[in-house]
Amino acid sequence: MKAAIISLNSTSSKWTAEAMRKYFKEVDELSVSDLEINISGRTAEAFYKGKPLSEYDCIYCKGSFRYAQLLRSLATIMQGKCYMPISPEAYTVAHDKLLTQLMLQQHNIPMPKTYISSTVKAAREILSNMNYPIIMKFPQGTQGKGVLFADSFGSASSILDALSELKQSFIIQEYIDTDSSDIRAIVVGDKVVGAMMRRGSPEEKRSNIHAGGVGEPIELDDASKETAVKAAKATGADICGVDMLESVKGPLVIETNISPGLQGVVKATKIDIADKIAKFLAEKTAGWLEKKKAKTSKDIMKDLRSSDNESNIITSLDYRGSRILLPEIVTKASGIKSADQVEIIINKDKVTLKKLDIS
Ligand SMILES: Nc1ncnc2c1ncn2[C@@H]1O[C@H](COP(=O)(O)OP(=O)(O)O)[C@@H](O)[C@H]1O
Ligand SMILES: [Mg+2]
Repeated sequence: MKAAIISLNSTSSKWTAEAMRKYFKEVDELSVSDLEINISGRTAEAFYKGKPLSEYDCIYCKGSFRYAQLLRSLATIMQGKCYMPISPEAYTVAHDKLLTQLMLQQHNIPMPKTYISSTVKAAREILSNMNYPIIMKFPQGTQGKGVLFADSFGSASSILDALSELKQSFIIQEYIDTDSSDIRAIVVGDKVVGAMMRRGSPEEKRSNIHAGGVGEPIELDDASKETAVKAAKATGADICGVDMLESVKGPLVIETNISPGLQGVVKATKIDIADKIAKFLAEKTAGWLEKKKAKTSKDIMKDLRSSDNESNIITSLDYRGSRILLPEIVTKASGIKSADQVEIIINKDKVTLKKLDIS
């Protein structure tokens, strides 16, 4: 099996690639910045360093919000061509905190109350009705850098003025008092493979490791595990870091991270998370290959000649405008000629083509 990890070449990605080499025959480490997508009416193609992207059985693609659209495009055009642990939508949703909260709400996943408004006047109105303290966040901040804390309407109002002056969009969120701690759970498939509690320094409200937070291992209760797995699934990511705040009402999800750093959580838990990810990727890829194992044209012809068996091909479809163009092998194997009359039986999700015997 051949895999590619497309990333910003962080240490976490290097660890993951290294672990993947135990399970895959070949693992290419590609850099997101050398990726290019060409889209025209009929085709969409991915290029790497100016050449068409090689064929892979598995592509694990991660990067920052700056590359969200590029990665979403790549994931869209590679869909069905290999196993990818992250769905196209995940790149735009997980890299935007407002879209993340919306998605969580749609899936009934517990989260802090979150507000957004279109005007400064409406935002001030929201702020005047909040219980303090509150949190204001940039939709695309990471490592705690876009998280602002306001302990009164007065400070929130002046932050609001500064943000609108800078044309910086933001969301407003109820503050969950966790004593400056949060939980980072790493979800792989339908399991939490490791979790840590991060605690910020006493004078700090953010618990991110990059903001000086310290991680310690934690065994999550079933409800927190279930919430983390649900959040990862809702994001559309088989591999996902889920940030949760422990409230009196139970765990509240504040973020899903499709490119979670591994150093902090490995240091805290001593669990070889890169290995767990690599093993999972290999298992999923093997499963995907098994399913895909479409027979070759020759096999299909032989099958059909030797018996009355049906034959099946698993493939993505070639669309010409809004029409489906069937593969050539379908024409050949069916023996249907252009002059034949056919009956097309259409069900939702199923189409049958039947030659009519009108002789
Ligand atoms: N609603 C909130 N209430 C209390 N603390 C919060 C809240 N939202 C974020 N924080 C703190 O700020 C940190 C960073 O927030 P998060 O939404 O995960 O953004 P980032 O992408 O920067 O990590 C969290 O880990 C948590 O410690
Ligand atoms: Mg976070």
